[in-house]
Amino acid sequence: MYNQPMLRDHALQGKTIIVTGGGTGLGRAMSTYFLKLGANVVITSRKINVLTQTAQEMESEALSADKNNHAKVLAVQCDVRKPEEVDEVLKQTLETFGQVNGLLNNAAGNFISPTERLSANAFSTIIDIVLKGSANCTMAVGKHWIKEKQAGTVLNIITTYAFTGSGYVVPSACAKGGVLAMTRSLAAEWGKYGIRNNAIAPGPFPTKGAWDRLLPGEMAKKFDFKNRVPLKRVGEHQELANLAAFLMSDFSSYINGEVITIDGGEWLQGAGQFNGLEAISPEMWDMLEMMTRSAKGS
Ligand code: HXC
Ligand code: NAP
Repeated sequence: MYNQPMLRDHALQGKTIIVTGGGTGLGRAMSTYFLKLGANVVITSRKINVLTQTAQEMESEALSADKNNHAKVLAVQCDVRKPEEVDEVLKQTLETFGQVNGLLNNAAGNFISPTERLSANAFSTIIDIVLKGSANCTMAVGKHWIKEKQAGTVLNIITTYAFTGSGYVVPSACAKGGVLAMTRSLAAEWGKYGIRNNAIAPGPFPTKGAWDRLLPGEMAKKFDFKNRVPLKRVGEHQELANLAAFLMSDFSSYINGEVITIDGGEWLQGAGQFNGLEAISPEMWDMLEMMTRSAKGS
């Protein structure tokens, strides 16, 4: 059930949504669902050949699910680090669809490394893609909405370590923490223009892009994410897409400045001091219970 499409048919009809990093992984999954719900989708990233192929596949998938769905996908090459390329995405979106209603800041760069091994440029690269890239897109689209007196929705994909921090992905943690601060700050500042800013913090949702850089080679087996999740499974792309579509839709009109975690309880499992006691067997609990009860008189 949880991996079934959730929103009613045509829930995003008439909307145009820009998705950065929309050609692969989670960006592709969310874009495909937006399209199936009737939105026109603009997918952007650095690799135009990947985008073009994804766009064709998405359109035929949406059409085969509903032959009356005539929503379109536009693929535009854009490195989110370059404001002039971001402006070009907005220009082409307006020329093709006449409007833009939503922005999904999903593009990211990341890799695991001990922080002391990073060069200054390695650190900057991640900040430039994740934090400054999200800011470039948000400001371009936000300025347009304010000028046109039009409402809009920005949705940012962050991570749970935006709240907790995490070793070995420090530039990404700093950048995602910044995106969370931007989400909450602009929710307050731009609410008066009818512009909502929200975020999703996903737990582990396997994708090639993330797994190749975060769990290379044997690490995927040794560091199996599902063992860190109380629900003992990783996320499925459709359940993230369901949440993203809801937050993009008018059904969430009163949600502004919120970050919604979708991680099966993973980050709280890591945070609770005694959660590691899960490893204790029932027999061991019998013994421990005797010992803790006998402490009554001490
Ligand atoms: C140390 C590294 C490195 C590594 C790159 N660098 N990889 N340093 N260890 N593994 C250094 C380079 O030497 C260089 O510094 C600087 O970083 C920039 O590298 P480039 O290759 O020139 O950058 P670029 O071509 O812009 O590529 C960006 C990238 C790459 C981030 C390095 O991996 C990329 O394109 N990623 C996009 C997709 C992605 O990362 N997806 C995963 C998202 S998952 P010097 O000093 O040598 O010039 C995620 C959430 C995960 O974010 C949460 C999961 C639960
Ligand atoms: P992914 O497939 O590697 O997605 C990253 C996307 O960003 C790619 O499409 C990439 O396309 C694009 N991108 C990278 N640098 C860019 C740049 N400079 N300009 C424009 N686009 C750029 O990985 P993913 O797992 O789907 O990640 C998607 C989002 O989910 C990210 O924000 C990530 O932090 C977040 N997230 C993922 C997980 C997970 O478990 N997978 C968990 C938490 C959060 P190009 O290479 O073509 O540019």
